[in-house]
Amino acid sequence: MLQIQENVSLKNFNTFGIDANARYFAEISHADELTELFADPIWLSMPRLILGGGSNMLMVADFNGLVIRLNIRGIEHRISHNDVFVEAGAGEVWNDLVNYCVDHGYAGMENLSLIPGSVGASPIQNIGAYGVELKDVFESCQAFEIASGSLKTFTKEDCRFGYRESVFKGELAGQYIIVSVKFHLSLVPNFNLKYGAIEQELAARGISEPTLKDVSQVVSHIRVSKLPDPSTIGNAGSFFKNPVITAEEFGPIQQNHPDVVHYPAGDGLVKLAAGWLIEQCGWKGKTVGNTGTWKNQALVLVNHGGATGEEVYGLSSQIIDSVYTKFGVTLHREVNIVK
Ligand code: FAD
Ligand code: EPU
Repeated sequence: MLQIQENVSLKNFNTFGIDANARYFAEISHADELTELFADPIWLSMPRLILGGGSNMLMVADFNGLVIRLNIRGIEHRISHNDVFVEAGAGEVWNDLVNYCVDHGYAGMENLSLIPGSVGASPIQNIGAYGVELKDVFESCQAFEIASGSLKTFTKEDCRFGYRESVFKGELAGQYIIVSVKFHLSLVPNFNLKYGAIEQELAARGISEPTLKDVSQVVSHIRVSKLPDPSTIGNAGSFFKNPVITAEEFGPIQQNHPDVVHYPAGDGLVKLAAGWLIEQCGWKGKTVGNTGTWKNQALVLVNHGGATGEEVYGLSSQIIDSVYTKFGVTLHREVNIVK
């Protein structure tokens, strides 16, 4: 039976550890409960927030509406020749799914090891790390359309994935709740080891023919060395996207700052490392009140304890201003701001 609680603290439901309250809070364990919930016009008309692991949001105020936490569980798989199709409930923990696949020898997700959050949120911003994005292993997802109360299947094309983008963040924002995601993996690994320090770390471990588990462990090791653990220091990973600019915009920046960290982004576009831009503005490791940027990765804003969402948001605005003043580049927040 669906239960709705009142005045629930979200402190343990967001990895920033911000102490904000939800006016109403419902936990959903089965897609049918969404039908039950929205059969009542009160909930249909109320502001709502869909919550997975809360690892990509900043609560800047109490939420005066209904928080719907997805806890739909279950992992199923089907094997056809070398293809593996794995379907997981939205409430499964992303890294548990990665471990399940790595342990079973299903290849494709190993570079996405240790990303926090839920399976259901993974298509929202097309999670990515170490040269792989969700779209590379995504087959389809099932989503509940709030207005009609029906379930719809979205193919990869329907989702219009881009860098930290999808149709669910864009034109369909707020209209669908993802209840399950299906992935297309393989029994034959096609390793992507070129990114960052993966090859270096494998070599340091004396591994020349890595297994899925080796790659997963190496990626996890690199991540732990750079990123703060949300269980000890509040954060939501990269706070901003890496800015993508045109070659014309890039020219003068490179001339003035020959060491600018950048990557080709296709179609003549250039992606800049936001962490580098922020560090150059003197923010790396800086503490401002209860908040600050992480000492090993300036792109990560942290809660040193007791920070309010407004404080973190304020710091992010200061960073945007100083990067714009120094480089003429506008940073866009990657973290979802909840008011
Ligand atoms: P939440 O924070 O709960 O929600 C995020 C957004 O998705 C919100 O807008 C929410 O309303 C919406 N949403 C959530 N679930 C659903 C659903 N079922 N249906 C519809 N909408 C939904 N991200 C990367 O891409 N790559 C990384 O390498 C990475 N590293 C990270 C490292 C750290 C230490 C941390 C804290 C975060 C990192 N992130 C990274 C960000 C985060 O892990 C991902 O964005 C993740 O997918 C968020 O999942 P979540 O369940 O916590 O989503
Ligand atoms: N850099 C600095 N100073 C810093 C941080 C970075 O100079 O303080 C420079 C370094 O040259 C470094 C480069 O930036 O080599 C890239 O840094 P890193 O490898 O840490 O990756 P990133 O571009 O900062 C992105 C994602 C991460 C993802 C990693 C690995 C975005 C916004 N962030 O970070 O995703 O884990 O690549 O693939 O694209 C997240 O989305 O929350 C997240 C952590």
